[in-house]
Amino acid sequence: MAAANGIHAVHVQVKRYQPDTSAKAYWQDFTVETDGKDRLLDILNKIKWEQDGTLTFRRSCAHGVCGSDAMRVNGRNRLACKLLMEDIGTHVTIEPMLGFPVIRDLVVDMDPFFAKYEKVKPYLINDEPEPRTERLQSPEERARYDDTTKCILCGACTGSCPSVWANPSWVGPASIVNAHRFIFDSRDRGADERLQILSDRNGVWRCRTIFNCTEACPRGIHVTDAIEEVKRAIMYSSSDVE
Ligand code: SF4
Ligand code: FES
Repeated sequence: MAAANGIHAVHVQVKRYQPDTSAKAYWQDFTVETDGKDRLLDILNKIKWEQDGTLTFRRSCAHGVCGSDAMRVNGRNRLACKLLMEDIGTHVTIEPMLGFPVIRDLVVDMDPFFAKYEKVKPYLINDEPEPRTERLQSPEERARYDDTTKCILCGACTGSCPSVWANPSWVGPASIVNAHRFIFDSRDRGADERLQILSDRNGVWRCRTIFNCTEACPRGIHVTDAIEEVKRAIMYSSSDVE
């Protein structure tokens, strides 16, 4: 029950994995007081600093920018620093994201994720002679890929995708979003190369248009739409992507 000042108890269930002491993951319950204005990250910090210093999770900016605290909250991938406790209620379950190897507690191994990201060449490719000033593009050309520039590489989309859970070798939504960002950049000349990479058996075609990725993205990126645009680019133009 909430006190007059709004302070009330929240029941927090955390999936723990401490490989030094137990080969199996297990659930642990905590009770934390909040006035509802805390973020979920504040609650995790209170547990770590006041109740159990062994609780392990990644965090850095606390403002939805660095992408380090993606986790599964009440069954959905979210950034802990963006979740207000008054929007969560008095019971919350927290797990590491699915589809990633778990290192400890809520910390997952992001190396395979970044290896797939690197595979799509997420950087400007252009061997033409450098212009005397910057490479210009119109506002319309810039708008073409604006949505996919917002990615913070948190992995929430990839960790929410059943196609990734079934096949960890699949390149996954985050990599395709970051390929999209350059494929549709008028200054880039590497589109054919990326489309070739994404047309293989672990490329875009394993997307089943489930939309979990779009729902999970804390940046509001239209992830499924970006994947569909890359699919269409492969189908209709391997040499002249618009
Ligand atoms: S597309 Fe969204 S959910 Fe996926 S990694 Fe980027 S910011 Fe995170
Ligand atoms: S701590 Fe940086 S995005 Fe949440």
